[in-house]
Amino acid sequence: MKSLLSQRAAHLKPSATLAISTKASELKSQGVDVVGFGAGEPDFPTPAHIREAAKKSLDRGETFYTPVAGTPQLRKAIAARFLVDYGLEYKPEQILVSCGAKHSLYNLFHALLEEGDEMIIFAPYWVSYPEMMELAGAKPVIVETSEDDRFVPDPGRVESSITSRTKAILLNSPSNPTGVLYPQSLLEELAKLAEKHDLLVISDEIYDKLLYDGLKFAPFATLPGMKERTVTVNGPSKTYAMTGFRIGWLASTQLALVKAATNIQSQSTSNPTSTAQAAAVEALNGPQDEVERMRAIFEKRRDLIMAEIDKSEGMFSVRPDGAFYAFLNMTQFYGKKGISDSATMAQYLLESRNVACVPGGPFGSEDHVRLSFATGEETIRKGMERIREACQALG
Ligand SMILES: Cc1ncc(COP(=O)(O)O)c(C=O)c1O
Repeated sequence: MKSLLSQRAAHLKPSATLAISTKASELKSQGVDVVGFGAGEPDFPTPAHIREAAKKSLDRGETFYTPVAGTPQLRKAIAARFLVDYGLEYKPEQILVSCGAKHSLYNLFHALLEEGDEMIIFAPYWVSYPEMMELAGAKPVIVETSEDDRFVPDPGRVESSITSRTKAILLNSPSNPTGVLYPQSLLEELAKLAEKHDLLVISDEIYDKLLYDGLKFAPFATLPGMKERTVTVNGPSKTYAMTGFRIGWLASTQLALVKAATNIQSQSTSNPTSTAQAAAVEALNGPQDEVERMRAIFEKRRDLIMAEIDKSEGMFSVRPDGAFYAFLNMTQFYGKKGISDSATMAQYLLESRNVACVPGGPFGSEDHVRLSFATGEETIRKGMERIREACQALG
């Protein structure tokens, strides 16, 4: 047989976050008492009124294709939230609804990127960015950040990474995996660079509603002059505990780009699931109190996990401003019992104390493992206790 796989597929790695969750579930199903710090999703059930909307949609017989880019109701509801939450005006036709924000990014990259084009991302980055860019034929240009600067990129370094092939800067604030919210001063510097070098900015704002310490979110598109240059990506997965519904969207005033991404979707997946769209309409238009309730619980858990980390010798994490991840620096323990990087550390924690966390390597940092605190307080205490024991056992 001729070579079976395309070059594209042969080089593609599976998502590291999903891989560790699968391994942890396997162990759990064998009766092992695993502490799971792997999940990249809220552990809350989807709020009842949203589930009810999905059921009603089925009962109304909404089981047919919808317009490719999403139902008019959902695109209107998304536009309304942009306006109410942030004063940003989008027309429904400037919005494309897809099967999760991941799918929005996939469509966008394929609509935007030419073979050999470059896009700037900041390390640590969300695992899927470089893989998805490469799948679209483009080159991820990674700008390293320093933990001492709370992983906030240095604008000078960003500028020196820009070449004639740079098409866009991609940012994700609050960040997965660090939880860091970029300061307004950095956003302003990035806006200047975008203007100066004629770049697009893709702003992945999936954690915009999960902020702590009273911090307020400002979408990149609200910066002066930036609305035309920004493609905003978001979705209900994290805000409304709706990961399994698979809904996400992008918004941009660049109609040609929205249309091209829609064409890609129309030739691949068609519309996102009809009932999931109806559920998302309710999520956006319905009562918002569950969002605050879940956020407040995440904030308590953030405080707890930081207190646990602070009392753990040899490990540390920047204090997350948002999202639900602590990015734990474990370098102090490297060089012991064959632990040399994030993967061997994660493997050691899983094998020695049944603690599942995600290695930082695929996020662009071998120094860290990512702990999701989208899990109960008891689990956080128990898991951190086990991590401490595992590290003490290293001597
Ligand atoms: C930074 C970031 N962007 C996008 C997504 C995709 O979310 P979804 O496809 O569920 O909307 C995730 C999910 O983990 C994420 O962490």
